[in-house]
Amino acid sequence: MAPFAASASPAALSYGFLRRRPSPICRFSATFFLPLPSATLDQSRRLSAVWPTPLRSRRGSSSSLPAMASEKALASKGKQGLLVFDTEEELSVSLAKYAAELSEKFIRERGAFTVVISGGSLVKSLRKLTESPYLETVEWAKWHIFWVDERVVPKDHEDSNYKLAFDGFLSKVPIPPGQVCAINDALSAPGAAEDYETALKHLVNIGVVVKSATGYPRFDLMLLGMGPDGHIASLFPSHPLLNVTDKWVAFIKDSPKPPPERITFTLPVINSSSYVAMVVAGAGKAGVVGKALGNEKTADLLPVEMISLEDGELTWFADNAAVSMLPDKPSL
Ligand code: 6PG
Repeated sequence: MAPFAASASPAALSYGFLRRRPSPICRFSATFFLPLPSATLDQSRRLSAVWPTPLRSRRGSSSSLPAMASEKALASKGKQGLLVFDTEEELSVSLAKYAAELSEKFIRERGAFTVVISGGSLVKSLRKLTESPYLETVEWAKWHIFWVDERVVPKDHEDSNYKLAFDGFLSKVPIPPGQVCAINDALSAPGAAEDYETALKHLVNIGVVVKSATGYPRFDLMLLGMGPDGHIASLFPSHPLLNVTDKWVAFIKDSPKPPPERITFTLPVINSSSYVAMVVAGAGKAGVVGKALGNEKTADLLPVEMISLEDGELTWFADNAAVSMLPDKPSL
């Protein structure tokens, strides 16, 4: 893959894009970064988990995660894996390592790393990425940030996923502002969805985002949360949006989780990802995790159960509380 023109950096391409479009979405409303933290990682973390075999074999023996993961194997099959941590703190440490390793891999392979984030508690679980050693070692200049879903509110609104991510993550790492693809908050929900999809198409055309074999954008890494009802992105149980395949970005005006108006990636876009991390912490998620990863399958699939990656790897990052209703041998 050779997505970038040799003469232009990703940032230059993005900024060029901004200049050409009167209503850009890849823009940044803030113009400064907060002071950089200098905390060190706790290397004494304990982990009980299983790591997906394909990723383990690619990581090689230099990675400490597979060795730690072998401490307690729960289950693994195909391109799904489950990592269970004693605490959310340990989960956060491992998630940072996972993201940093994928960053290195994709930047080595194609000079960029496209990362999709959700709102909710996921952002807090990204905190270790903003600390040493990742703060200094990750090539942040090559990162491109997208949102799997966004609430249609101003970016400085308390409900904004952009604000949540900016306050908890983006303000602490030096990702070029032009590579942060936020919603155009001046538009209505339908307009914002169309605008975001148009911008994605441009980024696919210039090679920043890869195109999947089935024609959808193929992001390098999606970092997702899951609601206690099993929703992912703004795709809610039994909602007709789950069936949309002719759009990359859709809008919703009747979200059961407030606020009601949102835009969201559609299921085929999520399923085209190279890597997906499903981050679930807390007892509030235990029932759905038990259903999604349990052995009793029912016809009424929850959105999270509809994740079926075309050609990628799904890894669940869970704490003990979130898997408390899971049988010993989960269905993976
Ligand atoms: C949103 C989020 C949403 C979130 C889940 C999980 O905008 O509402 O993107 O999809 O990820 O609801 O949120 P919690 O982890 O906070 O439960």
